[in-house]
Amino acid sequence: MQQSRRDFISLSTRALMLAIGADLGLFALPQAATGNFSSAQLPVPGRQGLFGLLAPEGKLTLTATEVKGVLPATGAPMLVYSARHKGEAYLNPVLVLRKGQPFEVTLVNGLQEPTIIHWHGVDCPWKQAGHPLYAIGSNGSYEYSFPITNRAGTYWYHPHPHGLTAKQAYMGLASFFIVRDDEEEALAKELDLQLGETDIPMVIQDKRLTHDGRLDYSPSRDDLMMGYLGDTILVNGQRTPTLKTSTRIYRFRLLNGSTARIYNLAFVMNDKQIPFTLIGNDGGFLPAPQQTDGLFLAPGERADVLLDMSSLALGQEVFLQNMPFDPMHNEGEMMGMGGMMNMGHAAGGASMNHAQGGEAHDMGAGGHGSGHGAHGVLEEGVSYPIARLLVDRAVAYTRKPPTRLPDIPAPPSGGLERPISLAMRHMGGWTINDLTFDMDSAPIVVNRRGPEIWHISNAKASMPHPMHLHGYFYRVLQRSGSPEQVKKQAVDAQGRLVTDLGYKDTVLVWPGETVSVSIDFSRPQYQGEQLFLFHCHNLEHEDQGMMLNVRVM
Ligand code: C2O
Ligand code: CU
Ligand code: CU
Repeated sequence: MQQSRRDFISLSTRALMLAIGADLGLFALPQAATGNFSSAQLPVPGRQGLFGLLAPEGKLTLTATEVKGVLPATGAPMLVYSARHKGEAYLNPVLVLRKGQPFEVTLVNGLQEPTIIHWHGVDCPWKQAGHPLYAIGSNGSYEYSFPITNRAGTYWYHPHPHGLTAKQAYMGLASFFIVRDDEEEALAKELDLQLGETDIPMVIQDKRLTHDGRLDYSPSRDDLMMGYLGDTILVNGQRTPTLKTSTRIYRFRLLNGSTARIYNLAFVMNDKQIPFTLIGNDGGFLPAPQQTDGLFLAPGERADVLLDMSSLALGQEVFLQNMPFDPMHNEGEMMGMGGMMNMGHAAGGASMNHAQGGEAHDMGAGGHGSGHGAHGVLEEGVSYPIARLLVDRAVAYTRKPPTRLPDIPAPPSGGLERPISLAMRHMGGWTINDLTFDMDSAPIVVNRRGPEIWHISNAKASMPHPMHLHGYFYRVLQRSGSPEQVKKQAVDAQGRLVTDLGYKDTVLVWPGETVSVSIDFSRPQYQGEQLFLFHCHNLEHEDQGMMLNVRVM
């Protein structure tokens, strides 16, 4: 067999990279599907530092800035929110708030470009919610002040300056916003859970790393259309990390903080998926705990899970893993090629070679060709490990996952029905109701007294879009036209998934699918007219304009 010149080049580059990387102790090659679990520990939120747990007392200042030597995986620089509180220094603090508490933050922009913070899922009036109209320039500042009214849950915060959101979030600006209340504390007590020890926030993000381990955000035109995929998956900033656990129940608050990548998550032991209990999602606890063995998690979504490891043996390994799925990049069908040709990240059997900017994008034939062969991007729907749990301490623990969770009211019945369509423009660019973002217009106007039902329909020749609304939560009523791989995971006659139960702020809408959601615009009650946003949480799509203003009258 003859080795092609291209293979030879990439081989020798790899060898070279290996040598340099080994020298500097900087990095390993992109993960193979079999995984490569080094001794890297999962960075767990502690008392200070990166992702430190910060329960603010009084006013807090968050400064968006670049800091060197931060990224746990490689020591690369990152953009972070830096803060000081009670003599401790924090980077991207995990904010821990109690329901009813006042929340006061000054954002200081230490970047060379505009920014603004959005508190994703946190109830607050629009001027507090990081509308891009309020993006502040370099060295500017912005005052936030509002009471915490959310129920307990796993929320998060990240930048929202229009056109720069993806890049800033990708370069590191993002962290958790955890709200606690009595119900939450009761569960923590019942299961003996401790935030930062046995209750662990985990943000999953994919990155492209340069040869010297830096974060590389340099999307091509295709990447802007499809979303920017990385070559390496990080959890709390670390690659294929290990968490040493004891024989007990753990709570993991999983956040997909990637700009574009969708995960099909499972816990795998001895090559088999093991059941876990989903207790919460975007808007706090589900109405009842759900046993499941896997779930899709799209950018912006959270899954709050309990994993019972009380019966596992010492030395047992459990992998948090991405399970194979069809990423459904069906937008190529629109180009009149009958699905033979997928743009971007081809997953199926299609073969495609197109030169772009002098760089060949070999889509591969009949297998898992990467859409970005040249970068060694990790394909979206293949199987790969994300993190490892290693049981290494035996403890006496006899508590069981809860059989009940706090009740939540039924969604309001009826309401104005509003069709929402997601599609691609003929010449490219994703649209909502055939429109793209215009800062000065509000194509959706809603009445604050009324509940509405939004039927969010994604075109067939499309790709999955995680649709997020600011200011209010959805209740998912129904999924229809779902692709087989989604239908398979449905838990009720309405075609809903485990992750659809309870309150949602981001719902993934697959190609050809319609997700019907009920939205109660009377809660929370905000004073005066509001201008919120409805957008795709594929952050490349959002920045490219897949976003609309929603005026609440
Ligand atoms: Cu997390 Cu408007 O976004
Ligand atoms: Cu949001
Ligand atoms: Cu999208």
